Amino acid sequence: MSNRLQQKGTQTLVPGPSDLTSFNTLGLACQADQVVVLQAHEQLPELGRQLLQNTDFFILGAGSNVVLPSQLAPLVVRVALKGIDLIEEHSEHVLVAVAAGENWHDWVASATARGWFGLENLGLIPGTVGAAPVQNIGAYGVELCERLHSVRAWQVAEQKFVTLSREQCGFGYRDSVFKRAERGQWLIVSVQFALPKAWQPVLTYPELKKHAAFAKLAAHEVSAQIVLDAVCDIRRRKLPDPSVLGNAGSFFKNPLVSSAQYQALRARFAELVAYPQADGGVKLAAGWLIEHCGFKGYRAGAVGVHAQQALVLVNYGGAQATELLALAEKIAQTVEQTFGVRLEIEPVVVASG
Ligand code: EPU
Repeated sequence: MSNRLQQKGTQTLVPGPSDLTSFNTLGLACQADQVVVLQAHEQLPELGRQLLQNTDFFILGAGSNVVLPSQLAPLVVRVALKGIDLIEEHSEHVLVAVAAGENWHDWVASATARGWFGLENLGLIPGTVGAAPVQNIGAYGVELCERLHSVRAWQVAEQKFVTLSREQCGFGYRDSVFKRAERGQWLIVSVQFALPKAWQPVLTYPELKKHAAFAKLAAHEVSAQIVLDAVCDIRRRKLPDPSVLGNAGSFFKNPLVSSAQYQALRARFAELVAYPQADGGVKLAAGWLIEHCGFKGYRAGAVGVHAQQALVLVNYGGAQATELLALAEKIAQTVEQTFGVRLEIEPVVVASG
């Protein structure tokens, strides 16, 4: 059964083969043996039993942060749950529950338009709401974990819905319990956001702060909508649109090094771009490291490094995961030989099973 039929039609939970090439933003060729589409909470007890029998199942949102193999044997669950619910509103914040299958940017845009502020720096990030906590999405000075109240999930082993508090999600930089070893334990069904009533724009990120939109405005004139528009403008200018050129945003994390390692590197590379962290460590701009190794705009067959942002790997069309991962390894090795820093891949690399 094709994916489209499953999506459109009924509440069927019979897994069927599916071509996932257009269900991952890198556009990597992927044939999956068994795919089901989750459309309603009521389907979970039945799907839950299937998950118990398929311990290496894989959950797919919009496929914007995954590297899919050309053949995928394990059960794939495409999460298509929809809905936005205001849970409570009081003097300090609004609490809103958003279903995992909602599009992330559409949610940010509608929240901003309704006067629920605090997510505007995260506009235009591709993907679904349910995928956002997995890698703790972050951009332009804000991380999801700062606005997230809790995550509602189906706990596979216990066969029941549970609520994980922000602390239980174990968030770190592009990291959470949902991305680590515990990954197969939960299926995220919705995310609850706590959005502050006393809103202040976050304009700490240098590139955002210097955007033309803020040049003639006094601080009190800056609205969440203006911030959202500025963020979208910056992203559109330098990040490729996945519907035009396959990509998964940043392909590597910005590496964390010790202060001593940073000082040693800085002595050799005066222009090194780096961000001091609260814990005394230093985060290096991987894009700068990669560009400095000469890879910006580099192309190897169907894959390459984006010409405007060296942290983004692209699929020019028809690429498979193996080609892309070979390029990633070549970049990581060159960066390590040059700077002594090992880059870590940011998206989830899915095994063929
Ligand atoms: N840089 C270069 N060459 C490049 C790219 C960047 O020299 O090719 C330098 C820039 O000049 C700048 C610094 O590196 O001084 C940082 O660049 P940028 O502002 O573009 O941010 P980034 O560190 O490359 C991170 C996130 C992005 C997020 C932006 C804005 C990670 C892995 N990436 O990128 O997130 O949008 O900051 O906050 O943390 C994503 O995760 O998919 C993603 C796009």
